[in-house]
Amino acid sequence: MSLHGLTSITLGVPDVDAVASYYEDFGLRRVGDRPGRGLVFATADGGEQLALRPAERRRLLEIGIGADDPDDLGRVEAGLRRLRVEFEHDAGVLRVRDPNSALQVSVQVSPRITEAAAKQELTNGPGRLDRPNGRAPAVEREGRVRPRRLGHVVVGSLDQEASQRFFTEGLGFKVSDRVPGLASFMRCSTDHHNLLVQQAPVNFLHHTAWEVDDVDEVGRGATAMLEGHPERHIWGLGRHHIGSNFFWYLKDPVGNFSEYYSDLDIILDDQLWKPSVVEGARGLYNWGLPPPPSFIHPEDLAALMTGSHAPGA
Ligand SMILES: [Fe+2]
Repeated sequence: MSLHGLTSITLGVPDVDAVASYYEDFGLRRVGDRPGRGLVFATADGGEQLALRPAERRRLLEIGIGADDPDDLGRVEAGLRRLRVEFEHDAGVLRVRDPNSALQVSVQVSPRITEAAAKQELTNGPGRLDRPNGRAPAVEREGRVRPRRLGHVVVGSLDQEASQRFFTEGLGFKVSDRVPGLASFMRCSTDHHNLLVQQAPVNFLHHTAWEVDDVDEVGRGATAMLEGHPERHIWGLGRHHIGSNFFWYLKDPVGNFSEYYSDLDIILDDQLWKPSVVEGARGLYNWGLPPPPSFIHPEDLAALMTGSHAPGA
């Protein structure tokens, strides 16, 4: 069969308590300490998808990739051998590190995530009165927004093209779209992207992205996060061109961005998707306010560069 998605991520953070309460506010459910994994949080449909561990500086420590069966791990082994990348394959888990993004990846057989179908709300439009005589159901919603699952992560790599080769030729990801010399959007599921690798002067986590039901949940989730915490706002509401998703980016207390998103492009048939090379502003977004400079170059990048050269970092 094949790889089928991003199963989990582990973040190393300097202040676990503050970051933990941020992700609870974000709508993840605190599960508790898991020996060997850290403090674990669950999404509504994807289960235990986030773990936090103490670290000197913020970093993405590991991503988990789900595969359908052991043959898939055999294919990954063969790909990594062709690239002459060392790996460990033990007790059903294949562990490998991309030298250019410094990303630790573990691939293992795991069940696919099934999501309950989100309700399609009726809308009014010119000449189309589909919900007369009442308020939009979306404005009557109450309660905390709960992300359904982890969708993608975006990381900086010292050599984006080498990282792209590692993930495509080594692990079996597919390229959905590219911004030449800067970024490649790659998938290991039917999502348009599960991993975006950007060219960067330092390895760092740019953002994690969490799927919600629709654009109203993107807006409701971000609005609730900003109540009493305007400093969490980074960029949104907007719609990306690459991947088509609605987005709103927020910032956790140690500088990781987290995105609520909905309506991402889905690729069921590889033959029908035409990967494209996207240049200019469309590489970033289709509509919305332009991104702030701190979205492109996070404010702690220089500090992360210094930290990455410190002994023991
Ligand atoms: Fe994103």
